[in-house]
Amino acid sequence: MNSIRLGDTAPDFKADSTQGEVNFHEWLGDSWGMLVSHPADFTPVCTTELGAMANYEEAFASRNVKVAAISVDPLDSHEKWIKDIEETQNAVVNFPLIADDERKVSELYGMIHPNDSATTTVRSVFIIAPDKKVKLILIYPASTGRNFEELLRVIDSLQLTQYEKLATPANWSKGEDCVILPSVSNEEADKMFPKGFTEIKPYLRLTPQV
Ligand code: BEZ
Repeated sequence: MNSIRLGDTAPDFKADSTQGEVNFHEWLGDSWGMLVSHPADFTPVCTTELGAMANYEEAFASRNVKVAAISVDPLDSHEKWIKDIEETQNAVVNFPLIADDERKVSELYGMIHPNDSATTTVRSVFIIAPDKKVKLILIYPASTGRNFEELLRVIDSLQLTQYEKLATPANWSKGEDCVILPSVSNEEADKMFPKGFTEIKPYLRLTPQV
């Protein structure tokens, strides 16, 4: 099993999808990316997840995130299943479902955990920054649908770090106070954060999210 770690370059690949051939790095371009594996087409939890992902299309687009789903099912299965997702989840699936029946991408990304299931992918999520570095890895069991609000929350946090030198505290929600990165001095913080900051400890400084 390949193990990708945070900070690694997301492996590139070429694969068939419901939106045509995907050359992963080229397809990502300058965007952020989210690659999501699911165990199998025509299964209940997966149907709700991919419907949710489709219904968050605007939320991902507004954050400059391109999303794609993948399983070891073949293309004709994905194409048939999309109709069920759209019918039952009141959704339009505009992102690619990658067909990985040869398991090349699943193996490359370590999405098959043989002691859990030798034949299907677990629920993995890889969030990838525009420089193609892996920023988040999340692995859920087959029986638990993922929380897409949480994925958006992490993306917001990652983008605050990347663009504004901010981190986010426990249970943070969009709009709440953020943590100033330890690498930012108080002098820099004075210039960077127009609303000021509160120094609770020298290492714990909070500023409102602008
Ligand atoms: C599901 O998507 O519902 C599912 C898939 C595999 C195992 C259990 C549940």
